[in-house]
Amino acid sequence: MMKIWIALVLIAFAAGASAQTCTCETMKWATCEENPCSCTILIGDNRKQLLDCTQLIPKCYLMKAEMYRRSKGQSYRGFGGKPDENAIVDNDGIYDPECENDGKFRAKQCNNTDQCWCVNSAGVRRTDKGDKDLKCDKLVETYWVRLQLVHKPVTGEVATANLKAAIADAIHKRYRNFNKDLVDKVEYDPDSRMIVVDVKKEMGNRKSDLTHMAYYMEKDVKVLPLFKNQDKFEPTIGNQKLEMESILVYYVDEEAPTITMKHLSGGIIAVIVVVVLAVVAGLLVLFFARRRQNQRYNKAQQREMEAM
Ligand SMILES: *[C@@H]1O[C@H](CO)[C@@H](O)[C@H](O)[C@H]1NC(C)=O
Repeated sequence: MMKIWIALVLIAFAAGASAQTCTCETMKWATCEENPCSCTILIGDNRKQLLDCTQLIPKCYLMKAEMYRRSKGQSYRGFGGKPDENAIVDNDGIYDPECENDGKFRAKQCNNTDQCWCVNSAGVRRTDKGDKDLKCDKLVETYWVRLQLVHKPVTGEVATANLKAAIADAIHKRYRNFNKDLVDKVEYDPDSRMIVVDVKKEMGNRKSDLTHMAYYMEKDVKVLPLFKNQDKFEPTIGNQKLEMESILVYYVDEEAPTITMKHLSGGIIAVIVVVVLAVVAGLLVLFFARRRQNQRYNKAQQREMEAM
C-alpha cells in the first residue's frame, strides 16, 4: 500500500513539474518566461510580440520575425547562415509586413518603402504596386487555398482510396486541430507524384483561417518546421509515409485580384520572345533540310539523265 502511495506522489510531482515548464510548441524562435507562462518573439529592436502558443502563430508575426532575424543575420533556419557578405538566397516574396493588433495583415503594405500595394488575408499582393497614397479599403479574405504537393518516391503504390481522409487527418493533427471539413478535395497523380489539396471555406466565414496553416505547411516542406518539434510533415496513407519534396500554394480571394498585365509584361515578353525564337529556329532548320534534300534529289536526277 505504502509503495503505491509513494508512486502516486511521485507521478503527481512529475506531472506538476512538466506542467510548469513553459515552452512555445508552435514557434521555435519564441522565448518564454515562467510564472505566469508567457512567450514572445522579437519582431524589431526591443520589440516583442506576445504569442498565443496554443494556436498557430499568425503569418504576419512570423514574417515580421523572419525579416528581423534576417536583418540581424540570424539564420531563419536556425542553422547555417550567410557564408559570405554577397551570398544571396531565394527569399520567397517575403517583406516586412505591418500587422494589426490581432495578427492580421494590414490591407496596405509598403515594406518600409514608398512603394505600396494591397494584400489579401494571406499577406500576398493582389494589386499593382503604387505610391504611398495607394488606397486599400479593406483586407480581402482568402477563402480557398490550393496546396500543390509533390511527394518523394515511395516503393509500391499509394493507396488512393484513403488519400483524402489521410491527408485531412494529417493536417488536422499537425496544424492545431485544423478543421478537417475544410479539406474540400484531394486529387492524386501517381506519375508526377502530385497531390493537390483544396482547402476551402464558405465565403464570409471569418471564424476559420486557412492562411496560417498554409504558411506552416509551406515552411514544413520548403525549409524546416516552425514548430518547436522538428518532426517532418509526413502524412501516413495506409502503411506508407509520404515525405513531401515540394509545395506550391495558390490563393483564391473573395474578390478577384486587380493585378494588371503591365507588371507581368516583362516576364511574359521574355517567354514570348523565347517561344518565337524557338519557332523561327525550327522553321529555318526545316527549310534548310528541305532545300538540301531537294538539291540532292536534283543532283540524283541529273546523274540519271546523264546516264541515259
Ligand atoms: C522588402 O524589403 C527587403 C529589404 O529591404 C527586400 O529584401 C525584399 O525583397 C522586399 N520585399 C518585397 C516584396 O518588396
